[in-house]
Amino acid sequence: MGQKNAIEKSWWKESVVYQIYPRSYQDSNRDGIGDLQGIIKRLPYLQWLGVDVIWLSPVYKSPNDDNGYDISDYRDIMTEFGTMEDFELLLKEAHNHDLKIMMDLVVNHSSDEHAWFVESRKSKDNPYRDYYIWREGKDGREPNNWGGSFGGSAWKYDDATDMYFLHTFSPKQPDLNWDNPVLRNEVFDMMSWWLDKGVDGFRMDVINMISKVPGLPDGNQEGRLYGDFTPYVMNGPHVHEYLKEMNQKVLSKYDVITVGEAPAVSVEEAKKYAGFDSGELNMVFEFEHMCVDEGKYGKWTKLPLDLVKLKEILTKWETGLDGLGWNSLYWNNHDQPRIVSRWGNDGEYHNKSAKMLGTCLHMLQGTPYIYQGEEIGMTNVDFTSINQFRDIECLNQYDDFVNKIGMDKEEAFARIKKSSRDNARTPMQWDSSVNGGFSEGTPWIEVNPNYTNINVEAQINDEDSILHFYKNLIKFRKNHEIVVYGSYDLLLADDPNVFAYKRTLGNQTLYVLCNFTEQSVDVEIPGYEEDKNQLVIHNDTEWTKGTLHPYEARVYLVN
Ligand code: NOJ
Repeated sequence: MGQKNAIEKSWWKESVVYQIYPRSYQDSNRDGIGDLQGIIKRLPYLQWLGVDVIWLSPVYKSPNDDNGYDISDYRDIMTEFGTMEDFELLLKEAHNHDLKIMMDLVVNHSSDEHAWFVESRKSKDNPYRDYYIWREGKDGREPNNWGGSFGGSAWKYDDATDMYFLHTFSPKQPDLNWDNPVLRNEVFDMMSWWLDKGVDGFRMDVINMISKVPGLPDGNQEGRLYGDFTPYVMNGPHVHEYLKEMNQKVLSKYDVITVGEAPAVSVEEAKKYAGFDSGELNMVFEFEHMCVDEGKYGKWTKLPLDLVKLKEILTKWETGLDGLGWNSLYWNNHDQPRIVSRWGNDGEYHNKSAKMLGTCLHMLQGTPYIYQGEEIGMTNVDFTSINQFRDIECLNQYDDFVNKIGMDKEEAFARIKKSSRDNARTPMQWDSSVNGGFSEGTPWIEVNPNYTNINVEAQINDEDSILHFYKNLIKFRKNHEIVVYGSYDLLLADDPNVFAYKRTLGNQTLYVLCNFTEQSVDVEIPGYEEDKNQLVIHNDTEWTKGTLHPYEARVYLVN
């Protein structure tokens, strides 16, 4: 297919981002909750790993209804995480370690405990009233049929003014009204305030939801408890106008990295958000590839992976944006179950399959994101009781399954266990001491008991570990421009077991072959005869021409 345009070089295209979920990274004061001083302690580790940017999940003041994604003060730090002085030290120390800091910007909604909302709800003529989305009830009911992302209606009645406010997530996360220019300027000022402090960019939470379709029409309710707001909330009528304004007033004045979380975004839409000349963002997080195994109950159904479909989706994104815009690459984040348990094998082939998945992702065109613990192959958790879960989303879902849908408790539990975000949120596994070295107190969520085997300390001392493999993937990218800027072509599109593709830059070619199964499979690459001398990345001790062993990954570089 080949590349459409030569791609202009930028540091954020060449970077590897590492996501920290601060609550679960490193506790320094024995309260069982990770904190900023804990992160500071681990900066040398991240520098050793070779990543360039740390994306910090929210560290702002928050009542923690949704673990910091409900912000009550955008210019202050969450008490459990430390103080503004701690933050400033973290920023300085990160920079001293050649690491940039990307903040999480959560401005589709705030907390209901934010001063703006406290004012807004007081009266209809309060100056902050229009910072949020208030509507009259309809026939004694909610203004429309939308369901919130965490269960229940997306509206909450407020008796102070006898009106409802919109919350597309929990009732403690009222949606901000981006149609109000005063609110927009408040957000822009706040962003500039952080950038002036020296932060290096923003990951923008559900940023494609900030412009709602006027009239807020009812959503499709077929087979659901509530109507679906997707068509009226995602990629709404003014979203590009607002992001261009943000870019013009704020982002364009700094050299920063930006990535917008964008559920239900298409390639065409992504070109508007993250096209090289769009004047909006650097890249978006699309969700299509993460939804490939969904079924009847959406993310709460996990179908076996259809590799052909996954390849089709990722190829559509790779070729769709090639030369025109930039991809973000991810298998994991704080909202997804662990990839090695999901599409790899967390038993016999733990080591090999984690490396194979890393290879497959990191050789694609785009900026790769590593979620804490992915680099050591952290797995899903063998939860045995609903009391072990902490996440509002899965607890509400369990309740809906059992009490509203009438699902058998065992089935409901099995669904939650497999898909819960808490799989990703258990503490980082540093070593084999108590609580995996995360905390000397009682962790806010239990540590995965497999920390005795899967931990950083064990892997740092083992050259054959997943950790060393990730370090090498990062290093390989730094030493080979083709990984960043080469064009992408899918090979063996119909092969149900192997994800194979090539990257091309000038007269160099990379061939990437990944076996997604626990069987040996035969491969023949069109136009390339495998040559062991050209092998530059490999997760196996054995090599058989024409046959990939279980979960084997090979990368060949042809000059
Ligand atoms: C997306 C975030 O990634 C998720 O963790 C959060 O719950 C919602 N947005 C609401 O902020």
